[in-house]
Amino acid sequence: MAILKVSRMGHPVLRTIAQPVPEDWIEKEETQRLIDDMIETMDEYHGVGLAAPQVHVSSRILVAQMLSDTEDAIEALVLVNPEIEPLNEEMETAREGCLSIPDVRGRVPRHLAISVRAIDRNGEAVSFEAEGFDARVIQHEVDHLDGILYLDRMEDLSSLCFLDEYGRYWADEEEDEE
Ligand code: NI
Repeated sequence: MAILKVSRMGHPVLRTIAQPVPEDWIEKEETQRLIDDMIETMDEYHGVGLAAPQVHVSSRILVAQMLSDTEDAIEALVLVNPEIEPLNEEMETAREGCLSIPDVRGRVPRHLAISVRAIDRNGEAVSFEAEGFDARVIQHEVDHLDGILYLDRMEDLSSLCFLDEYGRYWADEEEDEE
């Protein structure tokens, strides 16, 4: 396994709509290695999610660490060609960060509950519902597959802040939301 270089805001790959993965590619060694490397890269940089364009690969693959995972279940969620839909109109605003926009945080509105359909790393179709933090992470990562960054989703840029200042002035206040 390898830790991959993370693309940063400004790299065109982050503004490109990623290509669907052909189903017969999923089992290929190259694809499986990419997935393993994405998980290792996410862990290395303490991310809760990572999309393939963030490692310079314009393919519709994401990995994510779900809040609903138990501590024993360290295996990351892997979604290939994910499709999501909101389950209702309800939105929630909370702070997000992104490994491609280092050391910055901002408040982003997201659908509170979504349905997810995708293919897993074994090539099996999966569908499930997610809410709250898990739904937020999946929406953030699916946005990466469509060339969208969380900054594009912010309704009020005044909540943008650096990580240090977030920790100093805002973390306690917002702790309850996250
Ligand atoms: Ni991100």
